[in-house]
Amino acid sequence: MSAFTDLRHYIEHLTETLGSDEVRRVDGADRDADIGGITELMAEREGPALLFDNIPGFPPGYRVFTNFMGTAARTAVALGLAPDTPKLDIVRAWKDLAGRLEPIPPVRVETGAVLENVLVGDDVDLGVFPTPRWHDGDGGRYIGTACMVITRDPDTGWVNIGTYRACVQGRDRLSLWMLGNRHALAIARKYWARGRTCPIAVVVGQDPILSTAAAMAAPAGMSEYDLAGGLRGRGVEVLLPPGSELPVPAHAEIVIEGELPPVEEESVLEGPFGEWTGYYTHSGQETVVRVTRILHRDDPIILGAPPMLPTVPAGDQAVPLYSASVTWEHLEASGVQNVKGVWAYARQLMMVVSIEQTGAGDAMHALFAALGRKRTGGMERYFVVVDEDIDITDINHVLWAMFTRVDPKESIQVLRAPTTAIDPRLAPERREAGDLSMGVVLIDACKPFAWKDRFPAANRFDEATREALRGRWKGVLPL
Ligand SMILES: Cc1cc2nc3c(=O)[nH]c(=O)nc-3n(C[C@H](O)[C@H](O)[C@H](O)COP(=O)(O)O)c2cc1C
Repeated sequence: MSAFTDLRHYIEHLTETLGSDEVRRVDGADRDADIGGITELMAEREGPALLFDNIPGFPPGYRVFTNFMGTAARTAVALGLAPDTPKLDIVRAWKDLAGRLEPIPPVRVETGAVLENVLVGDDVDLGVFPTPRWHDGDGGRYIGTACMVITRDPDTGWVNIGTYRACVQGRDRLSLWMLGNRHALAIARKYWARGRTCPIAVVVGQDPILSTAAAMAAPAGMSEYDLAGGLRGRGVEVLLPPGSELPVPAHAEIVIEGELPPVEEESVLEGPFGEWTGYYTHSGQETVVRVTRILHRDDPIILGAPPMLPTVPAGDQAVPLYSASVTWEHLEASGVQNVKGVWAYARQLMMVVSIEQTGAGDAMHALFAALGRKRTGGMERYFVVVDEDIDITDINHVLWAMFTRVDPKESIQVLRAPTTAIDPRLAPERREAGDLSMGVVLIDACKPFAWKDRFPAANRFDEATREALRGRWKGVLPL
């Protein structure tokens, strides 16, 4: 897989493999009025990655990079695959790799580009960076949208990494919003129980494999650094900043170091922040990092993945691919026969599985097994199973199956399952009562197995014929 040394290496590689148009440089965009909007408009049409420079009020070279994995091609490159890898093959490659993954621990180095600038004492000022206000309804400027929050278990030394949104709250204050089951919160509680603050480092600007690993749900005790090393095939280069126990990527763009006091001792109003569901749901008194030191490279780059409507392929595109690959793996482990692929729509709101039916009940087995992967904190809402002739990476093809192979009275089941605290459809009284449950829909859009062979034939050219036509009519059929 990929082994980019840092974010800059990835940006260079994108232009080398996909052409210079793949990373659009934008000069003079305002961090409040323009950057978030341009990012969203470009993402909606699956446009290029964006590198904002000459941001008014900031030195030239202090940049913001967005839409970094906003297309299948960029995601493939980020994961070290050929840019023209078919969408489902990206999921398959990811699943196969995860299945045989050997964690590789990070490699300790003595120095790295992140130490080019070290701000301490009165020089500590988060305001030196051009942090954007991503959406106009946001309650602040979020420097951490695709960040890595690093903590270390005081008992075992386990280094955990998670992605939690981070908002600039002053020169030396950064708020974090961590949901209740997050590992960093569990680690912080151990320090708090001993009357100590929790040492913490927030990394802004790292290569896409590290970004992806940071948001993966590695089990407690396993470091996401080891996971990232396994995914890259080589250990991540990390260094221990002087006096710190927290390893940080040696070539990160920005590292914000500090301590996290208990929320009862210090907290700040956090949010609202436009979330990945496309809504604002959370705002409240949250934890604060007291920033003690900032490290950054010359001409630092903020890596931004602002949430957008879930139907827009956002910067962190590897998340739905990863989700699909984990469900695929789970289906196979559950004994579902002949799984041909899994695809996630709207990030994870609709999971679509294709199978080759070999017996009655296969489709229902696939639906229930896919549902079985859902946990508290996940928001999968619709589960659909289709036959192998459906291209599940094409929403129109999936809709065709749903519209024509489903008898709504027979083929749809509605159940209740866990959801996430940011589910916009959770009724206020349920949320207040701590009831995080929501309906889910299981849709069997396969041809009924009992009379599958008598199902009307489709009047659509098959893949082999399409391929042959494309070959014969290259000028007319460029696709
Ligand atoms: C772009 C992105 C932003 C995220 N933001 C948050 C957040 O603000 N708060 C949170 O609790 N989880 C957030 N998550 C989910 C966690 O990063 C994810 O569940 C991760 O596995 C948590 O790590 P942990 O299990 O080590 O705590 C985000 C994930 C992604 C991909």
